[in-house]
Amino acid sequence: MTLKNSFIFALFTFFTFTNFTTPNWGPTGHRTVGEIAANHLTKKANKEINKILNGHSIAWVSTYADEIKSDRNYRRFYSWHYINFPVNGKYETSKKNPKGDLVTGIHTCIEVLKDENSTKQDKNFYLKMLIHLIGDLHQPLHVGHKEDKGGNTIQVQWFGKGTNLHHVWDIDMIEKWNMSYTELACNIDILSKEQVKKYQKGNLMDWVYESKNLAEEVYRTVKPGEKLSYRYSYLHFSTVTEQLEKGGVRLAKILNEIYK
Ligand code: ADE
Ligand code: ZN
Ligand code: ZN
Repeated sequence: MTLKNSFIFALFTFFTFTNFTTPNWGPTGHRTVGEIAANHLTKKANKEINKILNGHSIAWVSTYADEIKSDRNYRRFYSWHYINFPVNGKYETSKKNPKGDLVTGIHTCIEVLKDENSTKQDKNFYLKMLIHLIGDLHQPLHVGHKEDKGGNTIQVQWFGKGTNLHHVWDIDMIEKWNMSYTELACNIDILSKEQVKKYQKGNLMDWVYESKNLAEEVYRTVKPGEKLSYRYSYLHFSTVTEQLEKGGVRLAKILNEIYK
């Protein structure tokens, strides 16, 4: 191989096998949020949603927004999965992503779903997007820093295997728990009425800042290259389950409000 070819080969290998960005709770996280939301819907919302989703469950469609990422036709929705802040920044005064972000994405979905003139096809698409995005909103690192792409460029080890901080919070911590989404939902959606009410309090921006604050704590409590394992899971898994619960009951609140 010539020097030039070796260089091209090395570059190709690097970009093929280096996954910088996997911006999604993994399927189990999204499905758990969906399953919990389904448990807290009004009859009316349940009926409408069932019609729009052609009988599929909320958990089933919750990963759709990630599946379409590999389709060029849906590129414009990529930036909807996250929102970045400077450490002490406020959304209202910080520079917005002109391609849209988690906040504008969620608002667009709600608008389309509330519009009586939206087509059935649009309602189906934007409902699936909304279900997914409310899940993403509750993964703290989807409300992280731009410089490290929400932790995607912070390499760490998880039980001896190389991964990145974003991936630990999207997937590794949940998968290590080794439960299906239905088992997870069953075991964490044991909330009293008062607790549900408490979680559903506030509006979208309150929930964005709540995630942002959790993200700052995640950044504070890990060093790049750190070897994470049982202790990390012990310290942070309750945050993961609480975020899944909150994501579920808040998604239900939004859907109950759309279909009231
Ligand atoms: N995924 C890709 N880029 C990201 C970012 N800047 N923040 C969070 N998640 C991301
Ligand atoms: Zn996503
Ligand atoms: Zn992610």
